[in-house]
Amino acid sequence: MTSHTSAKPSHYDQEAKYYDEFNESNSRAINRFLEKSLKSYQSKTVLDLACGTGSQLFWLANRGFDVTGCDINANMLKIARYKARKRKMDIQLIKGDMRTTYAGEFDAVITIFNAIGHLTKHDFEKALRNIHRNLKRGGIYLFDIFNLNYLIKNDRITTLTIDWLKHTGKTRMREIQYSTINQHGILASYTTSITWTNHGKPAKSTHSQTLQIYTAKQLREILTRNGFKVIRQCGIDGSRFSDNKTERFITIAAKR
Ligand SMILES: C[S@@+](CC[C@H](N)C(=O)[O-])C[C@H]1O[C@@H](n2cnc3c(N)ncnc32)[C@H](O)[C@@H]1O
Repeated sequence: MTSHTSAKPSHYDQEAKYYDEFNESNSRAINRFLEKSLKSYQSKTVLDLACGTGSQLFWLANRGFDVTGCDINANMLKIARYKARKRKMDIQLIKGDMRTTYAGEFDAVITIFNAIGHLTKHDFEKALRNIHRNLKRGGIYLFDIFNLNYLIKNDRITTLTIDWLKHTGKTRMREIQYSTINQHGILASYTTSITWTNHGKPAKSTHSQTLQIYTAKQLREILTRNGFKVIRQCGIDGSRFSDNKTERFITIAAKR
């Protein structure tokens, strides 16, 4: 059986330098929804506990939110810091772990792009108790994750297969990835990456990772027993949640 362990701090060490090239434009739909939701709950101070290179941080800061970023990976944070400097934005960025870091009491905490999937179920509950501590009473925790009930059926896991080609300066990178999933919600992804320049020899590397994914019902139960009240579950663009149609969903919960 495929097993899953919580990601090590070094997990994104290699991926960091290509991360924005592959992922930043994919954040638009979720960022728009995030902004709209946080405004509707009158959240002003936002702690992003898995900020990565800042896909959500800069979007929210540009729209008037007071944001703080935290991530466990030094290389992802380095890129976020560089972007902040380049854009002359004064954003607090902390190296820390969503299971343990205390940064203050915020109106909202977010962890976006399957970030909680990097934790085991046990460690996700630990993170939830820490998120609770970082929120004001009535504060909001907003996060997304793949929908287990959707991906487990009808071989839909094949829709996650990717084949990307990107250019960064003179370097080209091709990334091919396929995934499997089991009944316990462990999604395993296998990636081959090839980088090359016009005259150089191609460099090939392979890696794999696992994510713990959940059903909407499992998350409602876990949040409820850790001091939260679930107030909304929907698609990442705010669409109505459907176990049969929603691939990745958002959960919004309030601190009780
Ligand atoms: C898929 S990336 C998402 C980054 C960003 N939110 C985005 O949408 O681009 C997941 C991030 O979670 C971070 N992460 C994984 N485990 C963590 C932990 N225990 N505490 C804090 N960050 C963690 C990783 O380092 C990585 O930057």
